[in-house]
Amino acid sequence: MASSCFPDGAAAACSGERYNFAAGPAMLPSAVLAQIREELPDWQASGLSVLEQPFTGSPFKGLMHQAEQGLRELLGIPPNYRVLFMHGGATCQFGLLPLNLLAPGQSADYLESGYWATKAIAEARRHAPLNIVASGAGHGFRATPPLEQWRLDPQAGYCHITSNETANGLQLQHFPELSVPLVADMSSDFLTRPLPIERFGLIYASAQKNLGVAGLCLLIVRDDLLKAPRAGLPSPFSYALQAEQQSRLCTPPTFALYCAALMLRWTGQQGGLKAMARASLHKSRLLYQHIDASDLYHCRQRPADRSAINACFHLHDERLLPVFLREAELAGLLNLQGHAAVGGVRASLYNAMPLAGVEHLLAFMGDFERRHG
Ligand SMILES: Cc1ncc(COP(=O)(O)O)c(C=O)c1O
Repeated sequence: MASSCFPDGAAAACSGERYNFAAGPAMLPSAVLAQIREELPDWQASGLSVLEQPFTGSPFKGLMHQAEQGLRELLGIPPNYRVLFMHGGATCQFGLLPLNLLAPGQSADYLESGYWATKAIAEARRHAPLNIVASGAGHGFRATPPLEQWRLDPQAGYCHITSNETANGLQLQHFPELSVPLVADMSSDFLTRPLPIERFGLIYASAQKNLGVAGLCLLIVRDDLLKAPRAGLPSPFSYALQAEQQSRLCTPPTFALYCAALMLRWTGQQGGLKAMARASLHKSRLLYQHIDASDLYHCRQRPADRSAINACFHLHDERLLPVFLREAELAGLLNLQGHAAVGGVRASLYNAMPLAGVEHLLAFMGDFERRHG
């Protein structure tokens, strides 16, 4: 991959491939897209599209069961955990967590680790008193506060963490064993590595990154945390009532669920979560090594806390950023702009991103540096 791929100024993609580095809705595997395309008019020889299937019919119930089983196998979910398929994204859960998990007046612990944790805190605060166990805000969210610095409240109803800060490019490398239920927003690194499920009271993740398309939020919740809904909580937002009704208390997001079932099967076929973790580490290491060795790019995050999923970096000369993004797009490298709150460049390396996409990005970055460095 020499400069011939990206001739001066033209930056045309030599392979003709296009790679979507968006943080979400994100790239889907081409095999999954092909299956959706093929099955869309007629699902399982039913004569109907999956879009037209009643959610109460046995074919669709079968699909939900298959999705749940696929997830249980991939993650090794113990029987005392329930899987819920909820409407809305993770943002909806920011408010639903305190309403479902806390008694009125009870407080919760939150780790302020980045942009999304800050959002989760602001929303939860509308419903309950919160204790911020530690914050990375003072350092511009360039590192994750280490566990030794967390000021935990043993009386808290739960402790909330964001396992991967999508906007800031930080990822928690270890999950603590706490005396209160550990609750994790895993929207952007769900299904990218094996998890010690028993350490968690609840895990939630929006689907539009590694689990398909938007409209679905997946929850894994320990049985003992399911409580009768408090006054004022609409039934479809009650974890206990949704668990009772196997996520069919109202019409579930059927298309998103269908896509999730395909994504889960695809993830298993790729070798499961250990294989996903190996691939993520390999892709992200290549990228970070390239950045660290460069005079044009730099990564602000503490190396030990860098995300293997959303690699965020900057150009020393920020004036070059629009040129970088424009040329990258011409080279078939799409949606590399950083989150609006952070700026810079963000390469999202979800499970569907092939190594070839990262290699293409590295070749482009090298060529760009030769021309602009
Ligand atoms: C870590 C994290 N949490 C929450 C959200 C919000 O998800 P949604 O827009 O589906 O509510 C996102 C979206 O990117 C995210 O990355």
